[in-house]
Amino acid sequence: MYFHSVLHFFKQKISDAIASTVAAMRIFTFLLKNVNPKIEYYSRFSPSPLSIKQFLDFGKSENACEKTSYMFLRKELPVRLANTMKEVNLLPDKLLSQPSVKLVQKWYMQSFVELLDYENRNPEDSHTLNDFLELLIEIRNRHNDVVPTMAQGVIEYKEKFGFDPFISSNVQYFLDRFYTNRISFRMLINQHTLLFGNDTNPAHPKHIGSIDPTCSVAEVVSDAYDTAKMLCEKYYLAAPKLKIEEFNTKAAGKPIQVVYVPSHLFHMLFELFKNSMRATVELHETSREGLPPVKAKVTLGKEDLSIKISDRGGGVPLRKIDRLFHYMYSTAPTPSLEHGAVPLAGFGYGLPISRLYARYFQGDLKLYSMEGVGTDAVIYLKALSSESFERLPVFNKSAWRHYKTSAEADDWSNPSKEPRDASKNVL
Ligand SMILES: Nc1ncnc2c1ncn2[C@@H]1O[C@H](COP(=O)(O)OP(=O)(O)OP(=O)(O)O)[C@@H](O)[C@H]1O
Ligand SMILES: [Mg+2]
Repeated sequence: MYFHSVLHFFKQKISDAIASTVAAMRIFTFLLKNVNPKIEYYSRFSPSPLSIKQFLDFGKSENACEKTSYMFLRKELPVRLANTMKEVNLLPDKLLSQPSVKLVQKWYMQSFVELLDYENRNPEDSHTLNDFLELLIEIRNRHNDVVPTMAQGVIEYKEKFGFDPFISSNVQYFLDRFYTNRISFRMLINQHTLLFGNDTNPAHPKHIGSIDPTCSVAEVVSDAYDTAKMLCEKYYLAAPKLKIEEFNTKAAGKPIQVVYVPSHLFHMLFELFKNSMRATVELHETSREGLPPVKAKVTLGKEDLSIKISDRGGGVPLRKIDRLFHYMYSTAPTPSLEHGAVPLAGFGYGLPISRLYARYFQGDLKLYSMEGVGTDAVIYLKALSSESFERLPVFNKSAWRHYKTSAEADDWSNPSKEPRDASKNVL
């Protein structure tokens, strides 16, 4: 009797399991059939760029409304995802078939599908807002490793198929847009979770989400310097000193403040300091005069807030400057991740990603170098938060054309080529 009831129990379990597998399969086939038209649908909308001022005004406590944010994000997040997913599909098949790239695509697909669940969910329903908030946190975690995983995909591709200048320029174009999209996606998620989640920020009560309405630039400069200095001392047992100067043309003598995301500013400055320190120490290691300091100059004008980091690290020849912004270009030996230590240099992502952060709110990052002497790196930010609109990639015809038009012959003379055969001159 006992045996029969156990058997019955297991039969029931198995048929439940089959039923749930069948249900899961049904859901999966349903999804496959329905997701592609949804990606198509959402990718036809252009993303809606927000300014720092809009983020700020929305987030101020008297205005902040979780329902409004939910209604905006449940459409805007799928729009931003779909725009970038369509663009991923235009990458060459050989790159798309690399396991790391497939993994990244899987993450995007999963997050997109999970967001679709909210298309029709009523914000008045008591669970909707909480579930949505939890989903955003899950999505943010899922996408944590997108940058190194995508980089790994490109390495896998290069190892198998070698270097192709056309594909490489497409990959450069793509990664700039893909990573910008990711920065923006995380910005939206962070604002929502910081404003409406439980993880209030006791260290920075004045921050509105991730934005500091009175961000003291010189303070972020010194924080970034201190962190880079610790790394530098660990590797080289010495680090150059820092000299900061401020020029406030709007209010002489007053510390320069900006409405900005301090973590973005820190990221850019930290990368610049690491580069300047490495160049300085490597050039002057054996000199008896000691290390020349790294200088930071912060200036505020009507339109621009500029931060210049200058070093005497020997500089870079002009011919190579553009190359420094290429993903995967680094003169440092490839660091090993096995020891778990943070390397001072080595992935070649420092400059290109920092420039994306600067451009994301309509600023820029430029390098001016004098070979033999040193380098000035300048970060330009918009002085006014009403002008710092998100700069977002849009998936449209002209983006599509970038991937489809093949490289044409150079229309400037190229000194490295053989002398031209005059009889073939078509002009
Ligand atoms: N201030 C500088 N002086 C001299 N060379 C520089 C300077 N800044 C950058 N470079 C050169 O540019 C290269 C690329 O810099 P980038 O920060 O993008 O990558 P990386 O420092 O090599 O690696 P990481 O991704 O860890 O930053 C460096 O390897 C270095 O050769
Ligand atoms: Mg670097």
